[in-house]
Order: sequence, then structure tokens, then C-alpha cells
Amino acid sequence: MKHADLIRQLTLEEKCGLLSGRDVWTTRPVPRLEVPSAFLSDGPTGLRKQMGEGDHLGLNASEPATCWPTAAAVANSWDPALGEAVGAALGEEALAQKVNMVLGPGLNIKRSPLCGRNFEYFSEDPYLAGKMAAGYIRGIQSKGVSACPKHFAANSQELRRMANDSVVDERTLREIYLTNFEIAVREGRPGAIMSSYNQINEVYTNEDPHLLRDILRDEWGFDGVVVTDWGGSNDHVEGVRAGSTLEMPGTAGDSDRQLAAAVRAGVIDEALVDERVDEILEFALRTDAARKAAGEVKLDVEAHHALSSKAAEQSAVLLKNDGNLLPLAAGARVAVIGDFADTPRYQGAGSSNVNPTKLESARQVLNQFPLEVVGYAAGFERADKPNEELLRAAVELAKKADVVLLYLGLPEISESEGVDRTHMRIPANQVRVLEEVAAVNPRVAVLLAGGSAVEAPWLIHCQALLYGGLGGQAGASALLRIVTGQAEPSGRLSETWPLALEDNPSAAYWPSPCRTSEYREGLYVGYRYYETVEKPVRFVFGYGLSYTEFAYSDLKVSAGAVTFTLTNTGKRRGAEVAQLYVGLPGSQAGRPVRELKGFAKVWLEPGESKTVTIPLDDKAFRYFDTAAGGWRVESGEYRLEIGANCHDIRLAGTLAVEGSGTPAIPPEPYRTGRVAQVSDADFTALMGRELPPARWDESAPLQMNDAIGQMYYAKSALARFAWRVLTKKKQKSEESGVPDLNIQFIYNMPFRGIGKMMNGMVTMEMAEGILVMVNGHFFKGVGQVWRGWRNAAKAAKAEKKAAQG
Ligand code: BGC
Repeated sequence: MKHADLIRQLTLEEKCGLLSGRDVWTTRPVPRLEVPSAFLSDGPTGLRKQMGEGDHLGLNASEPATCWPTAAAVANSWDPALGEAVGAALGEEALAQKVNMVLGPGLNIKRSPLCGRNFEYFSEDPYLAGKMAAGYIRGIQSKGVSACPKHFAANSQELRRMANDSVVDERTLREIYLTNFEIAVREGRPGAIMSSYNQINEVYTNEDPHLLRDILRDEWGFDGVVVTDWGGSNDHVEGVRAGSTLEMPGTAGDSDRQLAAAVRAGVIDEALVDERVDEILEFALRTDAARKAAGEVKLDVEAHHALSSKAAEQSAVLLKNDGNLLPLAAGARVAVIGDFADTPRYQGAGSSNVNPTKLESARQVLNQFPLEVVGYAAGFERADKPNEELLRAAVELAKKADVVLLYLGLPEISESEGVDRTHMRIPANQVRVLEEVAAVNPRVAVLLAGGSAVEAPWLIHCQALLYGGLGGQAGASALLRIVTGQAEPSGRLSETWPLALEDNPSAAYWPSPCRTSEYREGLYVGYRYYETVEKPVRFVFGYGLSYTEFAYSDLKVSAGAVTFTLTNTGKRRGAEVAQLYVGLPGSQAGRPVRELKGFAKVWLEPGESKTVTIPLDDKAFRYFDTAAGGWRVESGEYRLEIGANCHDIRLAGTLAVEGSGTPAIPPEPYRTGRVAQVSDADFTALMGRELPPARWDESAPLQMNDAIGQMYYAKSALARFAWRVLTKKKQKSEESGVPDLNIQFIYNMPFRGIGKMMNGMVTMEMAEGILVMVNGHFFKGVGQVWRGWRNAAKAAKAEKKAAQG
């Protein structure tokens, strides 16, 4: 232990106090031993240090900070060094705002394109997500601040997010949902990690010793702080035992008392508490020292705004450019159409929401570019309502221009923490504007904002499509630099855009409205599925155009690396993202036809060639052998492919690899990739055990881990009435186009959340009493709530007395 001396001087109460928050955002200090309090703050898109009374959903004002392109956008850069630069700037802002831990990056795998938080995550591919996350972590921590990658792990839907059980087989878990975290932890060495809300195979991640101890700490060598997601602690004692360090937010001592009582009763060994205390002390002392050493740091608003713009530029993806419509020549006469040109969509909603230091709109910055703007028309209303007047004005304007810059996007409602999307379309009124405008002026370049993949049957109506993601506060100028040729488009998609939602391999299983969410598609997530079953998509994983072209030649394969030559054969400077895919034809273990195992983003002048080397690392050939409980390599002749994306393979070679052992043969769908409709029998065989009940038992009383949104079958008529009122409010807010995040949060929250999320106003004992009432025993429940209140008051009084000596 690093702080054994200090720990020896702490009382049991002080130790337990260190393992949960003082309030929503800070840890407890121990002034007599000079242990400082530490401040934790979201997050990945920019700092969100809340002012005054903090809620954790981004609903209250926070201190101004740079709003960066979201992780989904920056992942499209395929440039971990860019992630590192953004991370370093984030770390600097954390120092300036006296924050010890940045709650990010978010790196969950995009299992479905509909997850409401996809804009906060990097990719459908664990290798790319892990590399990008490691970049962010290195950057943030270069300033002495701790990063906190999240949400560990298999946290793939917002519906019932705090009470959902991810039923996933061990191999899929390891290869897809943990490899991203493994890379982030091993290569980024974060000081902290956030456990997720959900369960994995019936165990809450925050109290799962297999996840937190065997894998995270023992296998990957993580020695930092495991923080619960806010309200994600189910049983604090079990969490501490499993390897979770800090429960957030604080419960005004309720959880500490439970932990201290458990130690006294011999339920948990004090040595385990000491281990966790050592972790929190190390974090608080180390980051506090870094903050002090940095002195007063002033936020350089302009420099960070410029870096944010640079990041947006390097992340934008040119998806279509017929007849080289882009870049526009100087002096081109453009009509600027679309509400998004005036009111940009630049970030998502929820806990990642940033109060930006500045905000560009395309309309504001257009005058900095050599274009002749013939006018602006909003074209459509943000909510999907027809508006003939706006439409006609847009069409008239389009007639007067050489080129139309049409700003479209996903509306705010589509992308928010707490709410999943229900479809992948952009609003119909926007598509109508595109169609009508294109009918009078076919030279339309669409500039699309949004943090997730969309269905794009409307693609035929535009000549060019430039996708900016959610580009942060300075995204508008970044896209215009590309439009005018002042910058080169160099982004590549970090997720597949399927033709239709139904094509996605998880479509039949996701989102689960019930207890469990079954990961029946197994390893075949995103392109792993589309490529294996040869399903056509709109844009493949890794896709993106440049204003120039590249040639690949001279592939050389060795045991340690692949090497090839990349040449810019066009007339402009540009960057190619060369991607290494590995597959094993005829694999017995069953594996996707190709999987990303390396990449390199290479900038080249016209005519220039470079030799590119991509190492074959420890992840290149491995698969997880569930029966053996470890990583193995299957012997065989591996196919090594270098592609411009996952489908356009430019060079291929083979490498004979000597492995170990013979893999078990999985059920048929997991060999062929035909996983869209996996039978119970096949999935059970893959899991190697009976599936847990998918539905909750509506005849049984509600439990502490059932969600408040389940009160429709509560025994108490009052609870059912409350459910109806809440449901009505929820529906109303959804229909209004601006979902009320608080209501969504309450709806999906389990009853235990009442005891964990109210800063100690309601203790767990009181929350249990409330549940007794919900289950139809009103007076018994009231009695329990009263007893709980009295016990908490007594304990608080005793603690106060003890503190006064
Ligand atoms: C989110 C986390 C976030 C935390 C604190 C939770 O609701 O899931 O991502 O860091 O709140 O705001």
C-alpha cells in the first residue's frame, strides 16, 4: 500500500467516509491529516463544472468551458494523437477550474445505432474505440488530472439503464465489450474508471469481482479508483468487496454507516476497506499536488476554440462528392439553406452538456470565406412540421445560386442521455426541402449534423454530403474550410451506416424493455456482421472520401508487422486512413470475416509516397477461449488485408500462425454470422448456461432493483396513479420534441435510486419503506420510513457529537 502510514491514523468511520462522496461532485477531506477533498466533473465533450446547486444531468448552469466535438465525431478522425491534444486541453481546463477528475472519455461499443448516448462514444469497433480513448486519457493526465473512462461495461442502452441486465457470453464480452477498455487501461493508464449502471449476467458491474478484480485489476494491472456511475451503487459493501472504490454521489453518510457496520459485524474484512482507501488517498493527494504545482491556470479561450475547430476539421467525413462539386471555387455564388446554419447542432444532451465559451454558426462565420452568399433561408422548422412558406422561400433562393449549401441534421430530441432513438431517420420536413431544392438546383451540398448514423435514402438528391458529426463550438468554420478547399477532408466513419435500421444485427433484440438485454448477435456487431454476411449498407465502416486519391502497393507481411507503400496520386494534399484487417478463413472458433487490428492516418503531398508500417500486436490473432478461461491463438493461415475501409481492400497477404489448442466449435449462427434471429437453443448453448428470465414477474411484489416505470403493476392504487401521472408527463415531453430528462431519469430509475440519489435526504431504510407502501402495505411502509428517518437523525447526531470530541 502506498499510504499505509496515513491509513493507520484513520478511524474506521473516516475510512468509510472516504469511500463515498461528500455531495454530488466532491470527495470527503480529512483535514486533521491534510487529506484534501477532490472535485469530479463531467466530461468528455468539455468540462461541465456545475455552479451552485449541482444536479448531475446537465440541467443547471455550469462554468463556461470549451465544447469539443463529441467523441463520436473525433473518432472519425482516426487519429489518437488528435484525441490526445483535445485531452490535454481538457486537462488544462480542469486545472483552471480546480477539477481533479474528468469523467470521461466514454467508450462504450455502439451495439445499436439507436443508443441515445452514441454521440458520446467512439465506435462500433473496440480497437478504434480503445486507441482513441487511450489518446484522450494520456492527454488529460498529462496535466496531472485524472481521467475516468466510462461506463465499464456492456452498457448499450438507455432504456431502463440502471436496472438492465446485459446477458452476454464471455467471449463476446472479452473480444467486443472489454477489449476497448483493455486498450484504454493498458495504454492510457487512467487514474480512475467508472463502473456502469447495468448488470452483466445478473451481477451489477460495480459489485462484480470477475470484472473489477480478476480482469481490471489483476489482468490489466489497473491500480486506480473505480467510481460508481451516479446512483449506480446497488450494495456499497459488495461494491467495496469486489474492488469498487468510490460511491457517487454521496448519501450523507448512509452508505458509510452500512460499510462500517459490515466491518464491525465481520461481514467484510477491514483490509479490503484499507485497499480501497489507499486508492482514493493516492488519487486525492496526487491530483491535489498537481493542481497546486500548476498554480493559477488561466483558460486560453481563443487557443482552445481554435483547437476545437481543428479537431472538427480533422473529423469531418466527406461521404459523397459527385462531379467534384466540392471544394467550391473562390467566389462561388451560394444559397445557404437550413435552420442548422443559423442554430447549430453541436453537442448532445445530458451529463455531457457543456456551456460553451463561444459558439459559431455557419451564418455568422460565412463572411470569413471567399464565397458570394446570395441569401439565407431557414427552409424548415426544427420540429418535424411542414411549413410551406419556409419551403417555398428556400426553393426560390436556390434558383438564384450556383450551389446550395444545405444544412440538415438530427434534431436535439434524437440524441440524449436517458432516451434512446426509436428510428434512424432525419425529419421528413428536412428531406422534403432537399428534394424540392434539388429539383430546381441539383448542385446541392448537404452539410449534416448529428452524433449517430442515419438512414439516407435521400442521398440521390444531393451531389455532395459532408458529415460533421456534433462538431463542438467551432464546427461551423471547420466545415466551411473544407467546403472552400482551405482544408482537406480526412475523416472516415467510425460506425457503419446501414441502409435501414432492420439490417442492424441487434435489431431484433434491442432495446430490451424487460429485465434482460440479450446480446444474441454475439461478436457480430456492426461491420463484423455486415461484411461476414455480405449485407449491403449505405456507408461501410472506415469509409470517407478525400479531394485526392491514393494508391497502395508493395505489401510485405512479417510475423511482427505489415508494411506497404502509400502514394498520393492526385493533385492535392490529403490524408488516407489505411486500415489493417485480419481474418482466418475456415476458422473453427468462428470469427467475423475481418476485424480491425491496426490503422495509420498518413498525410501526403501530391505525388508523395511513404512506407507505412502497421505492427501486428497482441490483439491481432487472439480469440477468447471461454472453456479455457483465457486468450488463445488458433493455428492457421491468416488473411491480412489493407483497406481504404472495411470493404475496399487494396492489398492482401497471408501469414501462417502457429497457435495453441483446438477451439471449441460454437453453434452454427456464430460460425456463419447469420445472427439476426438466433434461437433460444443456440444462444443458450453459446452462453453455456440457462438464460435468466427475460421478463419480470408481474404477480410478485416490486423489488428495490425494479424501475419506477414498472409501477403500473404495483399493488398500491396510489402508486399506480403516480405511475399514470408520470407516464403522461413523459409522453407529453417526448411529443413536445424536448424530452424532460428528469422524468426519463426517474422513470428508468430503480427504487434503490431513491436512497442513493437524494444526497441522504432519503436513506436506504426509508427507500425500502417507500417500496413497502408501493407494494400495498401503506401503514407498514410509513412506519418503516419513520423509523429510517429517526435512525438517520440519531446517527447524524451521534456523529456530530463524536466530531466535536
Ligand atoms: C452518467 C455519467 C456521468 C454522471 C455524472 C450519469 O448519469 O451516466 O456518464 O458522468 O451521470 O454526471
